[in-house]
Amino acid sequence: MTQYQPSSQAHRFSVLKFGSSVLRNADDYARVAHEIYRHTRTGEKVVAVVSALDGETDALFAMGDQVGQGSSDRVLARLVRCGELKSAALMGLALERSGVPVAVLDPHEMDLVASGDPLDANLSGLNRDKVLARFDQADVIVAPGFFGEDEDGPITLGRGGTDLTAVMFAHWLGAERARLIKDVDGVYSDDPAKNPEAHRFDSLDYEAARKVSHGLVQDKAISRAKALDVVVEVASLGKAYATRIAASAEKPAAARSERPLRVAVLGHGAVGAGLCQHLLAHPNRFQLSPVLVRDPAKHSPIADARLKFTQDPAEALRDDVDIVVEALGGTGVARSLSQSALREGRHLVTANKAVIALDLELLSGLALENGLELRYSAAVGGGTPILEHLDELGPTSDVLAVEGVMNGTCNFILDALDRGELFADAVAEAQRLGFAEADPSTDLDGDDAADKLAIICHHAFGVMPDLRDIARESLSALSPERIEAAREADLVFKQVGRCAADNSGRVEARVELRALPRSHPFASLRNEANGFLIHRAQGATYIKGKGAGRWPTAEAMFADLMDVQRNQACTRKSARTRQKTASQAQRMPQESMI
Ligand code: NDP
Ligand code: HSE
Repeated sequence: MTQYQPSSQAHRFSVLKFGSSVLRNADDYARVAHEIYRHTRTGEKVVAVVSALDGETDALFAMGDQVGQGSSDRVLARLVRCGELKSAALMGLALERSGVPVAVLDPHEMDLVASGDPLDANLSGLNRDKVLARFDQADVIVAPGFFGEDEDGPITLGRGGTDLTAVMFAHWLGAERARLIKDVDGVYSDDPAKNPEAHRFDSLDYEAARKVSHGLVQDKAISRAKALDVVVEVASLGKAYATRIAASAEKPAAARSERPLRVAVLGHGAVGAGLCQHLLAHPNRFQLSPVLVRDPAKHSPIADARLKFTQDPAEALRDDVDIVVEALGGTGVARSLSQSALREGRHLVTANKAVIALDLELLSGLALENGLELRYSAAVGGGTPILEHLDELGPTSDVLAVEGVMNGTCNFILDALDRGELFADAVAEAQRLGFAEADPSTDLDGDDAADKLAIICHHAFGVMPDLRDIARESLSALSPERIEAAREADLVFKQVGRCAADNSGRVEARVELRALPRSHPFASLRNEANGFLIHRAQGATYIKGKGAGRWPTAEAMFADLMDVQRNQACTRKSARTRQKTASQAQRMPQESMI
């Protein structure tokens, strides 16, 4: 069996805290999931500490006072922590929808110990090993903030106590910092909502932060951070920058101004419709042009009333478009519109692996030449960030081989066959769920996996193989007898793509059907899951996630869009200006990703 090492020990940890100011209603969990995914896709393991939904803690206190009339702080603490428990579960559900491997843990499952006054306690201990063990399966641990446990049960940490939870997790896990996500993009000299002269700080020391933040960050959390030398950041959702609170000199921030980017979405099917929903939820960042479809009449009655549809590419790709999102599929119109988008000065975000496998060199060249961004994370792995993981290893990486289950439809079908279901039923269900390509034989015959494997080769070895050289085995080669024989031998069939480089740099790639032992990491991939092993001299790293479907794919595309938006925020030019200056343009400077 392939050796692989659990990756939690090797990873960077991030502690992100989401307060009630960014959790105002159920829709906000999707927005917060974007923020978390942005970190996990660069290989970070995240502890997401959540507050209760806005107003819930106050409501629980009021209800507790009404019923108990001040009889017991301990029982009141038990009641008011319920807002955080509910919020953590909702956060877990939002992340699962996006395909992010997640574990939601209550304090007692991590031995998160608190001591002191039941309504104003401090955190005093965590079973770090228990937390790290959960990171072997999950990229994110969601922890309810605001309370811990003593020998008599749950006790709470006082107003703003979720900040303290985040600081203490950062300390215990050795995270680079605790990033507190608020409804304001940093610490200001005064309340910016009331005082337009207030200026933001890039950095502050702990004492200065305590003085100016006026409770924006819990005092107790700042004290503990100072005592334990934990760096705290205050930021808002989606921003690259933050106010850094640490033992460092005070630094005011430069003023920033942003305008929304205009986005042309091509396609409103399984993927495009999900992406449009994310875009509509961020009107300050993105404005939508009419969405390109074949049949507008089919979409208008069922989609959000704010969406307009067109079958005319010229109307979708109007002059003021900054970014084109291609979610059409196929290599006809999609291929030509992708090229013309970049030629005409628009950034391109695409999920189309067939186009990328054919034209990556051409499209990258156009993007570079025109000072534009080309992003295609969703083309491989759906929401599983395999390309980002390979890129993290750097251009001189020592990757020996990459293998993976990279077609969600085939995995869904093979999983169903393993449970004894019928082939035709499984194919129909994969189509119904939006996993399969428009022509499902693209999935079944291994063509989709071959396209993805070619892109992986490019990221792992800097080589784009000729697609005709990638051998592929079709699911139709799998007889019921072979499946039954595998089951009797306690083996499970998976479609696996593998590429490897030899000493001379020659790359070999193939897509095959393998009967694997149940202990193999790929064997436990259920439904539309994808999983990848990156083999290097020091061992193999395993990553997994949801490989197909509306929400995981839209998550990856939206993350690409947000990266483009952040990179553009400082260096804004109109599409027309960009086109004029294209010949002298260089690649946009990348703002710090975090
Ligand atoms: P769908 O078939 O569900 O949707 C395609 C959309 O594009 C439809 O809205 C269709 O319009 C429109 N369209 C197609 N051709 C044209 C055309 N010639 N002119 C105008 N509109 C057109 O596809 P998916 O959303 O599933 O896939 C989109 C892309 O994302 C593909 O490249 C796919 O490989 C990729 N992808 C898909 C994943 C998934 O899980 N589905 C995961 C990762 C990547 P109409 O509705 O009017 O027919
Ligand atoms: N049809 C593809 C699959 C979509 O099933 O994997 C995701 O790329």
